[in-house]
Amino acid sequence: MTWKIPLFKLHSDSKDINAVSRIIKSGMNWATGDDIVFFERELAAYAGVKYAVSFSSGTAALHALLLALHIGKGDEVIVPSFTFISTANAVLFVGATPVFAEIERETFGLDYKDVERKITKKTKAIIPVHIGGLACKIEELKRVAEKHKLLLIEDAAESLGATIKGKKVGSFGCAGMISLCGPKVISTGEGGAIVTDSRDIYEQLRLLRSHGRADTKDYFKTTEYLDYIQLGYNFRLSNILAALGRTQLKKIEKLITARRKNSAYLSQQLKNIHEISVPTEPKNNRHIFQMYIVRVGGGKNKRDALQKHLNEKGIMAKVYFPPVHLSQFYKSKGFKKGHLPETEAISNEVLTLPMFPTLTKHEMDFMAKEIKAFFHE
Ligand SMILES: Cc1ncc(COP(=O)(O)O)c(C=O)c1O
Repeated sequence: MTWKIPLFKLHSDSKDINAVSRIIKSGMNWATGDDIVFFERELAAYAGVKYAVSFSSGTAALHALLLALHIGKGDEVIVPSFTFISTANAVLFVGATPVFAEIERETFGLDYKDVERKITKKTKAIIPVHIGGLACKIEELKRVAEKHKLLLIEDAAESLGATIKGKKVGSFGCAGMISLCGPKVISTGEGGAIVTDSRDIYEQLRLLRSHGRADTKDYFKTTEYLDYIQLGYNFRLSNILAALGRTQLKKIEKLITARRKNSAYLSQQLKNIHEISVPTEPKNNRHIFQMYIVRVGGGKNKRDALQKHLNEKGIMAKVYFPPVHLSQFYKSKGFKKGHLPETEAISNEVLTLPMFPTLTKHEMDFMAKEIKAFFHE
């Protein structure tokens, strides 16, 4: 189906195209190369941390991070169910057990009180998720993690650039994961990164990302033998994509400003529709509106009917997120309806509306008109 208003549109300009062309035309350096080194430096500086390590995806990045932190069999890791499935899957990749905790309504992030209830002797880490560009209650979660001596790993896949009191998400825990997949605020098509202040984590990640090889030099540019010192994967971001990441990162603040402006306009148009709650921005937070999530009063049937109405009008409204624990895969592991009542209730209310920098007032007026028509005709 061609949507009149798609959920997201990727932003690119001639600088992105020239950057990718430059690497392609070099006739080498497509896999490894200097743009990876520069991109990681620039990303770390932007995130306000010492190190960044790029990966082929956010999922690969999280997988490698859990390995780097020696999380494995016998360990429990507390995660939300209101997230993309790979937050929980990464825990399974390393042989550990994901333990789902509830979320709270203000930010859709982990509820720190429920997290504390779910801690056992086996708990090793907590992975809070910053949903759709809004920081979760990470300071409270950090206090819980410190009190119980647990690792705090941020899934900031959707929220590069979001802040609390000016501090970027991804810099609160021992490390943060960023996704550069399609619909994110900046994108390399597929891609991801870990940001961290820890030299140990940084060095481990570099080994895990590239076959356990001691990459003291660029592998494809040297004839020297670089030894393999541990088991590793090929989880590398290509140099072509790193070049794109650099030009994308240069415009991130401009893209965030445009998203914030559009979100403010859309909220203004929707604020008098009593059946809809528009997204809010808690004090001291900067929401980057990677997603524009509304809550729909009247239960799941009403929400689903609104989605259907908008979809029929060509507006690509979509549910983010159906609970992970109710997917077929997690149900096959014994989870069922009722396991997380609050998460399930919130998930039945949410609807994500199109949001991107080039969304026009005309398009937002059309969305508001159709939502009003649904409730009032
Ligand atoms: C919350 C969350 N976690 C993890 C991921 C996984 O990232 P990727 O798609 O780059 O593997 C995503 C991505 O879409 C996400 O939204």
